[in-house]
Amino acid sequence: MEKKNIDWGNLGFAYMQTDKRFVSNYKDGAWDDGAIISDATVSITECAGVFQYAQTCFEGLKAYTTEDGSIVCFRPDLNAERMKQSAERLEMPVFPKDRFIKAVIDTVKANEAWVPPYGSGATLYIRPNMNATGAVIGVKPADEYQFRIFVTPVGPYFKGGVKPLTLRICDFDRAAPHGTGHIKAGLNYAMSLHAIVDAHKAGFDENMFLDSATRTKVEETGGANFLFVTKDNKVVTPKSNSILPSITRRSLMVVAKDYLGLEVEEREIYKEELADFAECGLCGTAAVISPVGKINDHGKEICFPSGMTSMGPVTKKLYDTLTGIQMGRIKGPEGWVVKIS
Ligand code: PLP
Ligand code: COI
Repeated sequence: MEKKNIDWGNLGFAYMQTDKRFVSNYKDGAWDDGAIISDATVSITECAGVFQYAQTCFEGLKAYTTEDGSIVCFRPDLNAERMKQSAERLEMPVFPKDRFIKAVIDTVKANEAWVPPYGSGATLYIRPNMNATGAVIGVKPADEYQFRIFVTPVGPYFKGGVKPLTLRICDFDRAAPHGTGHIKAGLNYAMSLHAIVDAHKAGFDENMFLDSATRTKVEETGGANFLFVTKDNKVVTPKSNSILPSITRRSLMVVAKDYLGLEVEEREIYKEELADFAECGLCGTAAVISPVGKINDHGKEICFPSGMTSMGPVTKKLYDTLTGIQMGRIKGPEGWVVKIS
């Protein structure tokens, strides 16, 4: 199979239309068989629930070419489970988990020419998404839905690759205490758009959102969870019911403990503690682990000792081990790496 003629090494994190996508429709209480199709457009009623009341959720995972030339993906069962939780919270029908995993595999196989080669620095981003396609005008769930998976080759999420980021503590809230912050609902991201545009205008790379009830605790950014390293090398991550349970973060906590022998802790992290940490990173499928160099708290700068030129040493070890597992250089725990072809 011949690869597409793409400058893999210079890809950013952007959409590029590929050849095939998976589509299944839900009608009369059941999902149809679904199929791999070529049409990248969606034609639905102007009154669809997705347009009127943002009844939509999505997932994000990646396919990698490993050192031996296989194509794999990383823990798709956890994306299937999280999409189930998103659908349930949004009164959408669940796309069965086994079918989700098969559809991910089929979609990647159908787009094999678009999977970036090993060592190129790029990966294939996989975007499962579900949308209410049935018409609704009163506020209620729709009765028809479409589940779709498309893929797009991507490079680093943050321009500059591994250059440490500058964040600001954000005055806008991302999620309410009993709201939807823990699921991957499109509405959470719509909520964060003004905050990120505003942050960029002010010269910052990302927002650090605080808990909206007390504004004293660290939550996450618009698209990644936080990891901190203490001065005595403990890996600490915020515990909160209103952040997305990142698959990357959960995996990194296992890597830190079982592969690097580090102490790990998931607990509430107060804004006041930030200055005590040695390293800070953003973690997620898109972000992988992106180092944070400093955080601006309304004009007061919190600078991490790891500095503004490179990743801190523990962050780097976590990054190398996780990407080593994903790219087949290091053996991962049972079931983490799923072979596609
Ligand atoms: N937090 C938010 C708000 C996200 O959108 C993402 C991306 O999926 C993450 C965290 C990281 O989650 P994961 O590691 O499962 O990609
Ligand atoms: C991901 O990391 O998969 C995300 O969804 C984050 C962002 C691109 C929305």
